[in-house]
Amino acid sequence: MEHESGGAGFLTVAVVVIALVLPGLVLLEMWRSRRVALADDAPDTVLDPVLSGAGMSRKILLVMVVLIEAMLLFLAYGANEPFRQASARERQKEFAIEAGAHTYVQYCVSCHGVSGKGYLENIGLVGKPVNTSALQATDPDERKVNAKMIYQTVQNGRNNGAMPAWGVENAGPLNYQMINELVLMITEGRWDAVESVAKSQGVQSPTEAPITDPVAAGKLIVTQGACASCHAVAGTAAKGAVGPALDGIAGRKIGGVADFTAANMKKWVANPSSLKPGSSMPGYALKESYLDAIAAYLATLK
Ligand code: HEC
Ligand code: HEC
Repeated sequence: MEHESGGAGFLTVAVVVIALVLPGLVLLEMWRSRRVALADDAPDTVLDPVLSGAGMSRKILLVMVVLIEAMLLFLAYGANEPFRQASARERQKEFAIEAGAHTYVQYCVSCHGVSGKGYLENIGLVGKPVNTSALQATDPDERKVNAKMIYQTVQNGRNNGAMPAWGVENAGPLNYQMINELVLMITEGRWDAVESVAKSQGVQSPTEAPITDPVAAGKLIVTQGACASCHAVAGTAAKGAVGPALDGIAGRKIGGVADFTAANMKKWVANPSSLKPGSSMPGYALKESYLDAIAAYLATLK
């Protein structure tokens, strides 16, 4: 897009320069050929310059210049068109993202938070993180898959209404356009827009509930969030298959190397390579209380 408008800008400038220089050249040429004109007192035997080749060619030249100038103007306008269209598209997109942010603040903040990080922002939020690099993928195919998943999840809900259905088809408040605006806002990762709408309306994420039940809180994170895309736990929503299933983890060595203790478990989650250099699991910079909760939950998986 930027390349496109840059090219159009260059073309416009080139055309304008030609349009300015051309009349100058023509005037110069006319001045140079002015001697062809007849003196007032020239004898009648001399051909009328208007009918003679010289006079005629000057008129033709003038008409041609006017025509060429008109053409150049037209060209300059045309060259600028992609740029105008691009900026109109850009404005339209901004407008849609803004609308999506308003919808999000009204209906989604209570579970997913102002940051979109859901229970990773604060354990009082039950929503899954929707501000993730995976959902902001720029690859066109991934974007398409993400957009479809988000659209359908918002329209129809999921997990027996843990994520409610919002589409008008399901007697919800959101129509096709509103859901698409949400999809755009989420896939573009425009949480800055959400933050500014929330700020202007005085809306905040629900405050963090104290973790009264670390096992339940840990289960939320492990089976519905950060870990579920790679690990499975029998009988829960966690069905990932990238890492080993976590059933029975409390009865074996973590990663085959470290005794199962709360301290080792926290170390593993924060930075697996600190216990097993070169481990293929990424580390998670989670709050201490969340690491405690994860360790407490995994200790129940005997
Ligand atoms: C009542 C709490 C609640 C509200 C309100 C809510 N959600 Fe959710 N949302 C959830 C839960 C819980 C999940 C995880 C569902 C599951 O277990 O698969 C979820 C999942 C999602 C997902 C799927 C994320 C993924 O990567 O799988 C998206 C997208 C989403 N919500 C968007 C929204 C949007 C947009 C709104 C506002 C219109 C919204 N949610 C409102 C609770 C909520
Ligand atoms: C991107 C995928 C991915 C995510 C997300 C992920 N893990 Fe892992 N995990 C792995 C892989 C791969 C291994 C095996 C690594 C190894 O042994 O070096 C692993 C190993 C483990 C192990 C050791 C399992 C065993 O049988 O020894 C535990 C425990 C674990 N992960 C917990 C978690 C927790 C808790 C989270 C969420 C905070 C999480 N993982 C998120 C990929 C992931």
